[in-house]
Amino acid sequence: MPESKTNDEVEFLQWALPHLKYRWAGFRKPRGQVIKRIRQRIRELSLEGIRDYKTYLRNHPEEWHILDQMCDITISRFFRDRELWKYLKNNLLPEMLKARQDNQIRIWSVGCCNGEEPYSMALLVEEVRETASEPINISILASDRNPHALSRSRTGRYPGGALKEVPSGIKKKHFRPDPDHPNHYLITGEVKDRVVFEYRDISKSLPEDMYDLICCRNLVYTYFSCERQEEFTVKIATLLHPGGFLILGAHENLPATEHFVPENQSLGIYRKK
Ligand SMILES: C[S@@+](CC[C@H](N)C(=O)[O-])C[C@H]1O[C@@H](n2cnc3c(N)ncnc32)[C@H](O)[C@@H]1O
Repeated sequence: MPESKTNDEVEFLQWALPHLKYRWAGFRKPRGQVIKRIRQRIRELSLEGIRDYKTYLRNHPEEWHILDQMCDITISRFFRDRELWKYLKNNLLPEMLKARQDNQIRIWSVGCCNGEEPYSMALLVEEVRETASEPINISILASDRNPHALSRSRTGRYPGGALKEVPSGIKKKHFRPDPDHPNHYLITGEVKDRVVFEYRDISKSLPEDMYDLICCRNLVYTYFSCERQEEFTVKIATLLHPGGFLILGAHENLPATEHFVPENQSLGIYRKK
């Protein structure tokens, strides 16, 4: 690909992303995924290149919606940010169980991608459950606006590489090789059934329930504009019980807010006041 073409595509993204209330800084690293989809779209529309696509967008405002969908960065992995999961298991889950008299904990994974994050949570809960003295009741809601990611989540099939960070004992207990897809694994039924997946575009609506823990990693606080981040932070605070936790990605920061205090900032964990 000639260098000038790449520059044009980058310039296009730097121009288009703020229109969609995204931050270029968040997309700089994974921009290849978006550019690949735009090239495919340009071929579908039989356009010459990115400059034509810019003109097309100006003349067809409905295309902005399609471009927005092409901006979904669908990268995730099981137990992403290993230290976070240790802290969850040893500190947050025991504290939450102690605080909730009925042992009923509600967790929401926002932008769950292919299910790696909520299933990691379910696997962790299984570990805690095995050693708990009392029965524990943890429900996990996982949502995304990308229908392909949701469908992959529901299938629960993953290439071996996606399981690299899954501890070997957990892999042995809760995954089995898929006989129909070489080098792929299926998550077992009892873990799968603990996660409820739903379609939800968080720009349009939020759930009505209250949660003890919300995982919002590598979405709002990486890709959304600062203004959208601030708006979202106020809204998400209303969905957490006092003392509940909001977890961000390891490299993300919460905008200045009166609703949260850091619990462990280096792990991206904040506590609702
Ligand atoms: C980079 S993945 C993050 C996955 C996981 N949370 C993690 O940290 O590994 C971002 C996900 O957010 C989803 N997403 C993007 N915009 C969204 C929106 N407005 N509403 C819901 N999901 C969205 C994308 O489809 C994608 O699956």
